[in-house]
Amino acid sequence: MRLDYLSIFPAYFDVLDISLLGKAAVNGLVEMHAHDLRDWTHDRHRTVDDTPCGGGAGMVMKPNPWGEAFDDIIGTEPDLSVHVMFPTPSGAPFTQSAAQELSSVERIVFCCGRYEGIDHRVIDYARSMWTAHEVSLGDYVLNGGEVAALAITEAVVRLVPGFMGNPGSLAEESFSAGQEGMLEYPLFTRPVSWRGFDVPEVLMSGHHGRIAKWRRDESARLTRERRPDLGDFGSGIRH
Ligand code: ADE
Repeated sequence: MRLDYLSIFPAYFDVLDISLLGKAAVNGLVEMHAHDLRDWTHDRHRTVDDTPCGGGAGMVMKPNPWGEAFDDIIGTEPDLSVHVMFPTPSGAPFTQSAAQELSSVERIVFCCGRYEGIDHRVIDYARSMWTAHEVSLGDYVLNGGEVAALAITEAVVRLVPGFMGNPGSLAEESFSAGQEGMLEYPLFTRPVSWRGFDVPEVLMSGHHGRIAKWRRDESARLTRERRPDLGDFGSGIRH
């Protein structure tokens, strides 16, 4: 998989060299390239923004540098196998199933907007050429798309086959099929007693059936309390 990042702050992506993502790059599982959008400007001030048509506060990112960057990084031929991501608070919610789908694609290009956003024709153009997605990380506003692009990268790349040393840990975490759409249950390790707090007894019982039931009940309780939007997981009382 090849990942490209277009941004006026390409240094945000220096962190891709560390941790498991960096290891995936070293191992050749993924290839990641950050680009400075200003490299596709032609004026002395390397201008990427202008005032909004129709008036209003703030600045809008001009289409020209984006178009030239696309020509150089992606090419000028339509190709639906290229996925172009536009992180924006007005995008569709980015979900685990979207991450799962993107984990099997060959190319993803992240377009990180700043200021009030990117001229909408850039998105229309990308959609006419490639598979374009406007995605939001959540109902809050970040200063730009860079942090969102990093979060999406991590969510996607960890699902690329061969990334996880132990693929079993993917099966049981929140939102995955192994959790039946519920949040993950609380985790504990040794020591059994720590600062007056004990590991729940059932987890030390060695009784697999009781442990599985406790975990499922805890998942259902947490999901009911914190994320009722995820579905109805019952009263938690089982007979
Ligand atoms: N850019 C600014 N805010 C964002 C958000 N919530 N999600 C994705 N991209 C963003």
